Amino acid sequence: MTEHWTPASWRAKPAKHLPTDYPDLAELTRVEQTLRGMPPLVFAGEARRLKSLLGDVAEGRAFLLQGGDCAESFKEFHADNIRDTFRLILQMAVVLTFAGGKPVVKVGRMAGQFAKPRSSPVETIDGVELPSYRGDNINSMEFDAVGRTPDPQRLLQAYGQSAATLNLLRAFAGGGYADLYNIHRWTLGFVADSPQGAKYRELSEKISEALTFMAAIGVTPESQPDLHRVEFFTSHEALLLGFEEAMTRVDSTSGEWYDTSAHLVWIGERTRQLDGAHIEYFRGIRNPIGVKVGPTMEPDDLLRLIDVLNPKNEPGRLTLYGRFGHDKIADRLPRLLQATKKSGRSVVWAIDPMHGNTLTAANGYKTRPFDRILSEVKSFVEIAKAEGVHPGGVHLEMTGQNVTECLGGARALTEGDLADRYHTHCDPRLNGEQALELAFLVAEKLKEERVAAALRAAV
Ligand code: PEP
Ligand code: CO
Repeated sequence: MTEHWTPASWRAKPAKHLPTDYPDLAELTRVEQTLRGMPPLVFAGEARRLKSLLGDVAEGRAFLLQGGDCAESFKEFHADNIRDTFRLILQMAVVLTFAGGKPVVKVGRMAGQFAKPRSSPVETIDGVELPSYRGDNINSMEFDAVGRTPDPQRLLQAYGQSAATLNLLRAFAGGGYADLYNIHRWTLGFVADSPQGAKYRELSEKISEALTFMAAIGVTPESQPDLHRVEFFTSHEALLLGFEEAMTRVDSTSGEWYDTSAHLVWIGERTRQLDGAHIEYFRGIRNPIGVKVGPTMEPDDLLRLIDVLNPKNEPGRLTLYGRFGHDKIADRLPRLLQATKKSGRSVVWAIDPMHGNTLTAANGYKTRPFDRILSEVKSFVEIAKAEGVHPGGVHLEMTGQNVTECLGGARALTEGDLADRYHTHCDPRLNGEQALELAFLVAEKLKEERVAAALRAAV
C-alpha cells in the first residue's frame, strides 16, 4: 500500500459492484472527461471544516447526525423533498443537541447519493432476467432492456441534480430558513399531532423553556445571527469510482487531493476489501471518510483497514458505521470497540441501524421494523458506554416525506400499509414522523446516559 497514488490508481485493482456493461465505453470515457471540466461541488476548506468537527465527535465533544435517502432519484427530485428532509435533519438535531448536551454535526445523504451496490447483478420477474437496477446515475428502475442498460449520460444528469440540490441546501442553511425558533415550532407541531405526543412533550417543553429564557436575556436570531444559520454538509457512498475520480481535484491551498463531489464520502460494507479498488481510491483523498462495518468484520482486519485509511491517526478523518442488526450487535461490536480503543486509533464510532434490520414482508415489500432500528441504536449507546467509547452518532435512511416503507412507529404502520406510499428507489426509509420519533427516543437514551455519568462522577 505504499505504492504511488493517483486519482486513477484504483483502476489497477479488483473492483466490486462497478457496472461493466456500458454498451459504448468510449462514450463513458467522453462523459468522464466532460465531468473533469465541471466545477467542484464542494470546496476543500469545507471538507476540512467537517473533518475538524468530526474530530470533536471522535473525542466525545459532539454527536454526528447523518441521514437521507437510500438512493436519490431523478423522479423524486423536487425542491419540496429537499426542503423536507433538510428540515427534518434540523429538527432531529435540535432534539439531540438538547438531550445530549453536545453540538450535533449535520450531514445529509444528499446531493450525490445515487449509485447502489446490489445483492445480485440480475433481477428476474415472471421468468424475464435483466440486469439489476444500480442507481439513477447508472441505469433506470424501469424493468425493460433499454431501462436497465447503463447510460453514461445519466452521470451528467446526476451531477446537475447534485449541484442544484446543494445550491438549495446552501440557501436554506444560510438564508434564514434554518432559524432555531422556527425549527422548534415545527417540532411542537409534530408533538401536537403525534398519537404518542405525550411521550415527547416533556422534552419539547424543556426546549421551549430554554428558548424562552434565551430570548428573555436577549439571545435571539436578531442579536445572534448564528441562530438562524446552520452548518450543513453532504455525503454519499463513493461507489462509482469513475465519477469520483473525475471529481477529484488538487486543492490549491494545500496541494492535496480532494474528492469534490461531497464533503464526506464512505465505503460500503460490500466494497471494503483491503486490496480492492475502493480502498485504493479512498486512501489518497483527504476528505473525511467513512467505512461501513458489518457482522463479518474481525478486529485484526479492522485495524489493518484503519492503518491504510488513516495512517496518521488523525481525529475526524475516519468514521466507522456499525451495521450489524439488532440481534447481532451485542455479539459483534464490543470486540471491535475494544480493538480501536486499546490500540489508540482515533475514529468516530457511529451506528447505521438500517442495513442490518431489513426484512421482506409476506406481501413482498422490503421493510424495516421501527422497533428493531431503535433497539440497535439503544444497544449501540449502551455497549459504547460500557466499553468507555463515545457513541458518536447515527446514520439513517429517512425522508421528510410521509412514505410508508418502515413498519411501526407511533402510527403503528403494518405490512398492509406498506403499499400505500412505498416510493423508495432502493431500501425502505423512515418517514418524517418515524425519524423524529426516533430522535426523541434516542435523545432520552443519551440523556439517561449523561445523567448516569454525572451521578457517577459526583460520588
Ligand atoms: C447504504 O448505506 O445504502 C448501503 C448500501 O449500506 P451497506 O454498505 O452498509 O450495506
Ligand atoms: Co440503503
